[in-house]
Amino acid sequence: MRRAKITVVGAGNVGASCAVWAAQKELGDIVLLDIPQAEDKTKGKALDLAQCGPVERFDVNLTGTADYAETAGSDVVIITAGLPRKPGMSRDDLVATNVKIVGSVSEQIAKHAPDAILIIVSNPLDAMVYTAWKKSGFDPRRVVGQAGCLDIARYRTFIAMELKCSVEDISALLLGGHGDDMVPLPSYTSVAGIPVTQLIPEARLTEIVNRAKVGGGELVKLMGTSAYYAPAAGSVQMAEAIIKDKKRILPCAGFCESEYGVGGYFVGVPCLLGANGVEKIIEVELSPAERDLFDSSVSHVKELVELAEKNMAG
Ligand code: LAC
Repeated sequence: MRRAKITVVGAGNVGASCAVWAAQKELGDIVLLDIPQAEDKTKGKALDLAQCGPVERFDVNLTGTADYAETAGSDVVIITAGLPRKPGMSRDDLVATNVKIVGSVSEQIAKHAPDAILIIVSNPLDAMVYTAWKKSGFDPRRVVGQAGCLDIARYRTFIAMELKCSVEDISALLLGGHGDDMVPLPSYTSVAGIPVTQLIPEARLTEIVNRAKVGGGELVKLMGTSAYYAPAAGSVQMAEAIIKDKKRILPCAGFCESEYGVGGYFVGVPCLLGANGVEKIIEVELSPAERDLFDSSVSHVKELVELAEKNMAG
């Protein structure tokens, strides 16, 4: 059987952590790619990780490189390249710089790994997925943004902490963009099938929702840079669903045309992920209040995309 191949572009904190999770899960051979100025460091990280194989018991080939030719034949490409947030910055402050980086990476990948499915992690997420789609020229179902898997993981963690129960038993849904106006949905949150609203009082649940919404900022304040373990874990969860054709339903930034009335943007929605990328977007009923929150998050996504388009042109 042919082994799957995963390329991770950007060998910084998020990219290197993606390589670690993917290797541990033995998802396939891994290419870690960064700019030529960082080539030695990238090779070093790949070699260091390869040397975990005998201990962690994974058999995957790890390559560190600055050469896009090495990405040929990739099934999945995870794009983490770009600047991370520093304290005091919003994700949106990164548009101008990251649009150029993600744009050029996407063009290179389209050239060298034209059959890959792209998972975008760079921020501001929703605008970077759009940029990758435009610059790669790929079918939008083969371009998907990571954010929901991370955001929902934060929300599920906080609920498990509150209930002092296993995180595994928390199932939840989240919609909208990857900004502080994201929309975790208590109405679609359950604990081993029990609606969370029966277990946590409404006021406390609202506090948990609010903490999840600014969960990225909480970590930037603590660490002086963006989070990386959980963003990487969320990305590899998506890569696994694609590589193993699992048909998982995960909250991801998928391309919504008619779905949710979005009209041609990537926003966080439940996506069925399989070998063909986003194979289906699942629409759920929303209360008028939830719909308002979703619409306002989507209008923020649209503003960001407009800004990205200006920067792509300029
Ligand atoms: C976060 C960054 C990665 O939410 O957007 O932690």
